[in-house]
Amino acid sequence: MIRLGVNIDHVATLRQARQGIEPDPVAAAVIAELSGADGITVHLREDRRHINDRDVAILRRTIRTRMNLEMSVAAGIVAIACKIKPDQATLVPEKREEITTEGGLDVLRAEKRIKEVTAKLKRSGIIVSLFIEPDKCQIEAAKRTGATHIELHTGKFANARPKSQVERQLTLLSEAAKFAKMQGLHVNAGHGLNYWNTQLLLEKIPDVEELNIGHSIISRAVLVGLDKAVREMKEIIDRYCV
Ligand code: PXP
Repeated sequence: MIRLGVNIDHVATLRQARQGIEPDPVAAAVIAELSGADGITVHLREDRRHINDRDVAILRRTIRTRMNLEMSVAAGIVAIACKIKPDQATLVPEKREEITTEGGLDVLRAEKRIKEVTAKLKRSGIIVSLFIEPDKCQIEAAKRTGATHIELHTGKFANARPKSQVERQLTLLSEAAKFAKMQGLHVNAGHGLNYWNTQLLLEKIPDVEELNIGHSIISRAVLVGLDKAVREMKEIIDRYCV
């Protein structure tokens, strides 16, 4: 089975557009789970531009599947994660000026800090996943940190044009997934996945364990409803489950 982690950050983005109380990401998490989501993903950013402290605290108590907290290695955020205890923490790079996460973690450069944070989170009983580029050196470094999972960054694949570049990115992802599995790592993937390119990805890397998908599902939900949007993505993924 390939798990679908529904990233509900952009439900909170809409709420923050008026700095009000609706739509509530907690309600969205419940609907996503009832519609077949295997997990709920949220990114508690240092600038709290969408998901906030209240959200993660209530989500922890209401999520019935799996809570995956995307987070930076900043001390304040790590302290919150250790208190909240999500099922899984995905460490991501974070820059204030970026519109969304722009690339994978440079584990080679920040290996010492990532290792410390990984150990701390693991001591709190949290599974640690590192969001990285499909690159052998980054995978080897990820393994050295003690993390048991990686999430391959699919953003370059999602943005690739023309077809030859799409093929190239798929090959990189497929080779990286195989290499990571040989290292004993669990392989997740995400970023920029939608109702078209997810099929392409799964044809090449059917043995991925979890896909984290946000923007495309929430965008579709605005037009057709969250229930239908999640079910349709789940149907696509289930076609590739062995
Ligand atoms: N995975 C990670 C690590 C991310 O940072 C994000 C964006 O928050 C996603 C998956 C989901 O990306 P998208 O919203 O493009 O589906």
